[in-house]
Amino acid sequence: MRKVASEQLDSFYHHYPAVATVVTSHSAGRDNAMAVAWHGALSRRPPMYMVAISPKRFSFGLITQSGEFTVNFVPFEAARMVALVGGCSGRDVDKFQAFGLVKAPTLKVNAPVLEVAYAAYECRVAARYPSGDHECFFGEIVAVHHRPRSNGPDQLAHWQDAHPLLYLGDDSYTRVSPLEPVRMERPVVVAQALGGLVL
Ligand SMILES: Cc1cc2nc3c(=O)[nH]c(=O)nc-3n(C[C@H](O)[C@H](O)[C@H](O)COP(=O)(O)O)c2cc1C
Repeated sequence: MRKVASEQLDSFYHHYPAVATVVTSHSAGRDNAMAVAWHGALSRRPPMYMVAISPKRFSFGLITQSGEFTVNFVPFEAARMVALVGGCSGRDVDKFQAFGLVKAPTLKVNAPVLEVAYAAYECRVAARYPSGDHECFFGEIVAVHHRPRSNGPDQLAHWQDAHPLLYLGDDSYTRVSPLEPVRMERPVVVAQALGGLVL
């Protein structure tokens, strides 16, 4: 496939689509929520999750003060809510009140979990790392919320019941529809590719 290489790095959005999340925070009696597309899992033991937050965000101060945040995975149907919480600052608006965000009970942190989320991670900040115009907050996951599946306990298959919200950049969203999961069992595909050699 022919590609063009460039050193013009003013924008790079080629890693989209990315799952759009809502990160919540709480400090000194204030709840807040913001959209976050730059995030990811880092470790299973202990369970660690990273969110990249610009110091310009109101959330940055709340997370710094409290040492806590939650990451909420929301369905495609919540795209407008994500645009709302990602479109204004908690400095100017109480987003929970203004946008009617419904909270669900949490186990370990004071930052709220969103009722609309099909899954959420409660995180305590374990470390931070400045990364250019953003800062990485490395959270230890101290509680996981997920919807019980109608036909089994498999946490991996949440997408069978929910439609994860994908961000395409430039204020555009989509969902995977219809789902076309392809299973590539690693030992099987490796053995097939290597002519039956099992490693
Ligand atoms: C889909 C989407 C994804 C975003 N991802 C991030 C992100 O990963 N990190 C970040 O700092 N801001 C991100 N933003 C911007 C913040 O959500 C936005 O600036 C928000 O208003 C900050 O709210 P706050 O000032 O109340 O914290 C994103 C916005 C949208 C709409």
